[in-house]
Amino acid sequence: MAKAKVKKAPSQRKSPKKSSQSRSPNPMITVHIMGRAYSVPAEATIMGAIEHAGYQIVRGAGCREGFCGACATVYRLPGDYKLAMGLACTTLVQDGMSLAQIPSFPAEKAIYDIEELTPDVATMAKLYPVIFRCVECNTCTKACVQGLLVMDYIQAAKRGDIEMLMDLSFDCVSCGMCVLRCPAEITHYNVGVLGRRLFGRYLRKESPELVKRIGEISGGNYDAEYEVLLAMSHDELKKRYYDRDME
Ligand code: SF4
Ligand code: SF4
Ligand code: FES
Repeated sequence: MAKAKVKKAPSQRKSPKKSSQSRSPNPMITVHIMGRAYSVPAEATIMGAIEHAGYQIVRGAGCREGFCGACATVYRLPGDYKLAMGLACTTLVQDGMSLAQIPSFPAEKAIYDIEELTPDVATMAKLYPVIFRCVECNTCTKACVQGLLVMDYIQAAKRGDIEMLMDLSFDCVSCGMCVLRCPAEITHYNVGVLGRRLFGRYLRKESPELVKRIGEISGGNYDAEYEVLLAMSHDELKKRYYDRDME
């Protein structure tokens, strides 16, 4: 996160006096970003508040919709001893919140050829032996921004239960908050990725619907529709994307 050049928070700029009728309907609250207090809209997300305060997020933002895991943030609320974790793009600010975004940090990542693996505990032990250092403290589950049973999926990995590992880790966004807190130095999300790949390659049931759809795509059934989409401007595509929710 880099501070934008001479960019003052809109809330801190002087504005003409307004009559009571024209007062902003959006109440403001105070949050502390990297140790400094800012007045931000009460209904803002953390990411919105950071940008409202004049910061330009050059790293630590991707999808802005809660999917990519790039915007991991730690925060503390007044009077609460607990350090909380959240995604900046989907977590709303609260009055008195004190927060900082977490940069990415080096993570252990095994290199493998999925075609040469077996979907079992031997693979887990070979590629991520660190999982056997787990002390079952459950800190990873408490830290998870997605509310996943992280400790349970690590236990599934230790048993070689690939289906359970796939299932419990499915909504992981690889934000790294569990890694940050784990006393055993486990890189949970990469263990989950391995489990889902193993499941997809060796254990999933054949889907006749998927085979049919792939055949349709390969046969050119949708080529004309693709051409229409490819010719659209960014704004037209955006409108089409959001309009589909209204249908
Ligand atoms: S935080 Fe680490 S040691 Fe604790 S339960 Fe989770 S994986 Fe195990
Ligand atoms: S399991 Fe870990 S990396 Fe995945 S979403 Fe939860 S906290 Fe983030
Ligand atoms: S920016 Fe992608 S999850 Fe927040």
